[in-house]
Order: sequence, then C-alpha cells, then structure tokens
Amino acid sequence: MATEKAVAELSQTEAAEELAVLADKLARANAAYHTEDAPEISDADYDSLKRRNAAIEERFPDLKRADSPTEQVGAPVSESFAKVEHSVRMMSLSNAFADEDVRDFNDTVRRYLGLRDSDGGLAYTAEPKIDGLSLSIRYENGRMVSAATRGDGAVGENVTANARTIGDIPETLKGAPEVLEVRGEVYMSHADFEALNARHEETGGKTFANPRNAAAGSLRQIDPKITAARPLKFFAYAWGELSEPLADTQMGAIARFAKLGFQTNPLTRVCDGIDEMLAHYRDIEEQRATLGYDIDGVVYKVNDLELQRRLGFRSTTPRWAIAHKFPAELAWTRLEKIEIQVGRTGALSPVARLTPVTVGGVVVSNATLHNEDYIAGRDAKGEPIRDGKDIREGDWVQVYRAGDVIPKVADVDLSKRPDDAEPYEFPHVCPECGSEAVREEGDAVRRCSGGLVCPAQAVEKLKHFVSRAAFDIDGLGAKQIEMFYADEGLPIREPADIFTLERRDTKNLARLKNRDGYGETSAKKLFNAIDEKRKIPLNRVIFALGIRHVGEVAAADLARHYNSWDTFTKAIDAAGPAAQRHLKAEDAVTRERQHAADEGRRAQISATREKVWAEDPAVPAEAKAAWDDLVGIDGIGATVAVSLVTTFHQEAERASIDRLAAELDVQDVAAPATSDSPVAGKTVVFTGTLEKMTRAEAKARAEALGAKVSGSVSAKTDLLVAGPGAGSKATKAADLGVETIDEDGWLALIGDA
Ligand code: IVH
Repeated sequence: MATEKAVAELSQTEAAEELAVLADKLARANAAYHTEDAPEISDADYDSLKRRNAAIEERFPDLKRADSPTEQVGAPVSESFAKVEHSVRMMSLSNAFADEDVRDFNDTVRRYLGLRDSDGGLAYTAEPKIDGLSLSIRYENGRMVSAATRGDGAVGENVTANARTIGDIPETLKGAPEVLEVRGEVYMSHADFEALNARHEETGGKTFANPRNAAAGSLRQIDPKITAARPLKFFAYAWGELSEPLADTQMGAIARFAKLGFQTNPLTRVCDGIDEMLAHYRDIEEQRATLGYDIDGVVYKVNDLELQRRLGFRSTTPRWAIAHKFPAELAWTRLEKIEIQVGRTGALSPVARLTPVTVGGVVVSNATLHNEDYIAGRDAKGEPIRDGKDIREGDWVQVYRAGDVIPKVADVDLSKRPDDAEPYEFPHVCPECGSEAVREEGDAVRRCSGGLVCPAQAVEKLKHFVSRAAFDIDGLGAKQIEMFYADEGLPIREPADIFTLERRDTKNLARLKNRDGYGETSAKKLFNAIDEKRKIPLNRVIFALGIRHVGEVAAADLARHYNSWDTFTKAIDAAGPAAQRHLKAEDAVTRERQHAADEGRRAQISATREKVWAEDPAVPAEAKAAWDDLVGIDGIGATVAVSLVTTFHQEAERASIDRLAAELDVQDVAAPATSDSPVAGKTVVFTGTLEKMTRAEAKARAEALGAKVSGSVSAKTDLLVAGPGAGSKATKAADLGVETIDEDGWLALIGDA
C-alpha cells in the first residue's frame, strides 16, 4: 500500500478527494459485510479506514460529506426481508484502540457530567464485545411479536420467524414490562461453526469464512427451517423501547434479562474507575482463545442509567459507552520450515511452519506464503514487495490473521535473520512424487507434471471426483477418500476403482465389512450408493475428471455441444494434432513478441502463426476442423481446449479415463427444446441459493428443456425461480408481475420432483 500522507499535511483539495475515496471504500465494505455477509476487507483494515476518515473530518469539518461514513451504521437492509422500523434507533459504538483512548473516554464522560476528581471514581460495566450480529426482539405483554436485524439503525430486516427457532430466545416472558425490546448479539460458537462447515463440506454445501458470517448467513435465511437447523446462540446486553424501566443500573438490567430467561455474558463486571476497567480488559483478552466464540473487544458502559440518560447520544453512538477493540491481529514468530503442499491440479503451495504463536486469540502454527515470487519478495509483475526482502527458513516473521482468512506471513525482520540463513530455493521437482515441477509463462504457480503418478494430486483429484457437483456419492467424502487411498487391501487410487470396489471386495478376502468401522450393512449401503451413480449425466462426468480450467460451466457447455460421451471423446481425440500445432504456433509467436520492439511487427507475428500452422506435415483437415469446432464453442477458449486435449493424450491419464468410462452409463444430454416441455421458449431466471442442484446444472437442465436462461429480470422474463437469499431480483420480479416459484416448484414444473 502506498504510504499515506499525514493528515496534518493534507491540502484542502487532497482532503476532499480522499474523503470521497474513503466514503466509497467504506460504503463498499459495509455492503459486503452487512448486506452480503461476505466481508472483503479485514476488520483491522476497516477500522483503519474509518479512523483515517474521522481524522480528516476532524481537521476539515467543512469538508464532511453528506454521506459521511461516520454518520452511518451498518448498511441498508436487503430487499428479501420485510422492513421493520425500530421504535428506538439501534446504535453503534465508537471505538477505542489504546488504553489512552479509554482514559480520554472516561475524562470526556466526567467532564460532560461535571464530575470533579473529588467526586471519586465512576462505575462502568465491562463485558466482551461479541462478534456476531445484533438483533432486537420485541415483546408485548410477555409475548414475542417481532425480531429485527439492525439494518441501517433506523430500519432493519424482519427475521421474526427465524429468531423463533433460536433456543436462547424465549417465546414468552414472565414478569416483563408490557413493552420490552431486548437487544443483543446472535452468534455461533467455534464448535458449532466447525461442525456446520464440516457438514457442508461433506455435502458440497456452502462453507462459511468465519462464525460471524455463518451466524449472519443463518439468521438471514428466507426459509426459517434452514435457520432452525443452524446452531445459533444469543446474548442479551441492551434494550430498545420499554414501557417501564428495567432497573437503575446497567448491571441491574442485565440481571433482569437473566431472570427473564435470557443468556447474559458471564464476563460482565462492574468496574470502579479506569484501572479496574483496563484490568478487566486484559483479563478478557487472556481468556479470549478459550471462550469458544469470537469476541473482538470489550465494551464499557456507564453503569448508572440516570447518568446514561443525561449523557445521551451522538448521531450514531451513545456518549456513555465505548468499544475497546483488541489490537490488530499481528504477531512475530520464528519461521521454522517452509513446506510445499501439492493440490489437485499439481499446484505447489508453500506453507510456513511456525513456532506456535497466538494471533488475535488463536494459536497459529501454519501460514501461507502464497507462491515462489512472494517468498522471493516480488509480486506477479516482478515489482518488489516488502521492499524486496525475501523470506528464509529461520527468519523472524510477522504473521497476520484477519479472522476470516488463512493466516499469512506478512513481513520479515532482517535484523533477526540467523547468519546461516540461506535464500529459499523453491523446488523444481514435486516433493510428493519427484516429477518435474514446471512454471508456465504468465502463471504465478509452479506445478507438478506427474499427473496421476503423483499421490498428492491423485487424492485431491479423487476428492474432487466425489464432490457435490461431480459424482456426489453418499458416504464417500473427502475423509473416506483419504482412507481408501491409503488402504492396502481394497484401495481406491483412481476414479474407476470406486466402481470396482464391490467386485474386488467379493473376489478378495479383503472384505470391507470387517474394517475401518464398516459392517455388513454400511458396506452394502456404500456399494449401493456407488451403483446408483453409474448412470450419470455427461456434464457431471466431464466436470468430475478435474481437468485444469474445465469447471462446472465449461463442462456443461461441452456436454451440450457434444451431447454424448462417444462424440465428446472422439472429438477431443481428433483435435489432438491441431492442439499440438496450436501450442507450437503460440510458442513461436511468444518468441517473436519478445523480440518485437514495436507494434509494427504485428503482421509478422500473425505470419509466423500461419507459417507454423502450414508446416509440413500439415495437420489433417479433420483435426483442424475438430479443433476449430472445439474452440468455437461459446465459453470454451484455447486454454480450456489445450488442457482437455493434453489430458486426453497423456497415455496413463487416458487409460484411467477409459477404465472409468467402461464402468459408467453416461447419459446423453437431453434433447433440447421439445415443444411439449412446459418451459419451452420461456425466459427463466434463477436467483438465491439452490439446494437440490447447482446453478450450472439448473441452467443446463432448463436449456435442455428449451428454456432461455437469463441472468437478470426484465419485462421479458417469464419465470423467476427463487431460492433462499433471493434479493433484488425477487423484488423486481414482484414489481413487474413476473411469476415467481421456489426450487421445489420448479422441479415439479419440469417433472423432476
Ligand atoms: S452495546 C447503544 N454491547 O457491537 C449500544 N454492543 O459496534 C448498543 N456488540 O451494534 C451496543 N457485543 O452489534 C453492545 N456487549 C455488547 C456488544 C455489542 C457486541 C455489537 C453490537 C453493536 C456493535 C457496535
């Protein structure tokens, strides 16, 4: 990042420009975090942008924008939920980052209240700041009537049906004021978060980056049944409208919540003055890693509610409270070793093994080093990063963890580099199989060329093969793949082995039922699940092969174009010689380009390409035709084509594919546009999360039935299929009177239910 100018040195114009940029960045970050539940920047980066914005506004108050980020809480509500106007605004908290900021806060509060030193210490509550999302639950006459997210503070989303499914939220209250709005934080524990992600990983569902996202994504589900299946929890810590006071003090109010049946945070304390507040902060910080849920700071609140009333609010934050945030999640430690992991496509990824260190409350012992260039101190364009400092085994390195992402090695302290530390030499052979690891031009990644020979690639490929959008075999997930791959008696080393498992089981004495926790029934169940998938649509097979650059969409495009396994394989085989020639021509062109100093040599470059294509022996016309047909498919470029053809022409790879095909009954892509299909000729839009099919699959199926699938809703749209989480498209469809159905409705309509 460019070093920024000190705020004191900014000119009026620079300040105005920067405020505009910051307003933009923060609005984007807010939308990503609050509306889309998918943060794009870390909390630490967000806070630092906000601080910079506030500092500039403080120096140039006249430049404060109408859309100033300091005036905004959260983000506008999503359109998929009904809106609820909060009867009392839901506030945000101002932040303190250093002890000094907390002292300033205390001084300001005391001054505001006109307290003198002789008046003694002021009492505050101190409690963990839970990293979830806030919720306001309204009770009338002891009955829950509504629940809403914060939204922009004034208007939130109505998530009543979802809130009712949360165990920590009572449906009825005994002895509550006639009107009571309880506010607090919905969150997910670490254990529940991990179990949820593991479950979704097994079933190919969406995995969440962190517990907060998981909690937000779960609460903001259109279908409360989905929320009910997610383990959400709730801590009560504040309130909105009240028909009568709850207590005289903040602590008293919290005790009242507990008595009414809410969970309140056990680390909430009354602190007498600043020293006790800071001591409790340290205490909570120390316990952070063992709490079992995410917190990102400590909240201090003036304990006396009469004083709170006198202090009142600024535009979006109370004067009587402040959040003392934990420091940015950075730590220094020793890089013990650099190890290389090999992925499905053979990518060699460097991983730093570290002397374990606590970063933001979590013990980190591994961090990513991205790639070869990153270790060497260069970015993708060859420009220096970290001032060009390289990273070596034995180095003293800074680890950065932004809560939601894999920790990374961010910096290195050269003054602490051991004398004998050697520059790291990125391996040019695969550490798993010894094959050559090559780096193609323009690729930041070095890859193992071992293909199926490489055990690491083979296992990752198998995991991909059984994943949800591929073969999706019940009871055969990543865990079982690892187990079967390592199995001596009944191994699965390539996809075909999955389908010969039962035969081998019967023939050998290596019976599954006696091992690895399998019994007679569970073994039979697995065999049946495998058998069920022998009959499989062409697009899934193509995708399952895990060929580099051939994703779900490309696989569907290929399947639609070639229609059957036979046509597809024959076409790829036929294109072989042309692909070779294509590569040769592009190689020659690349060399030419390196010498070409000016654009004037363009003509020569294309002449070179033509010359290579025309070379003797000429590529058979049939091969050229097959190649042109392949690269002519909408969405399939030369990169995909080369990758496909190369894979099919590698002998071992091809033999393995043929062994697989012999086990399968690959289904042709359904003949398109039957006029009696209920959706033939209709324009269909899919939105939201689909749970029974992938998006690419839904599109392929609809197109096979003669429908036109579009990405946006317009007056021409005939039908909107909306899954959970549907947003603006659903609203627009409603406005335009476009018929909207859910996924089940769609499946029933096309007869797939
Ligand atoms: S009090 C009027 N207490 O932090 C004050 N907020 O940055 C209302 N939060 O919107 C907030 N733990 O979502 C309060 N113990 C706690 C909290 C807490 C988490 C969240 C809450 C709020 C945000 C402000």
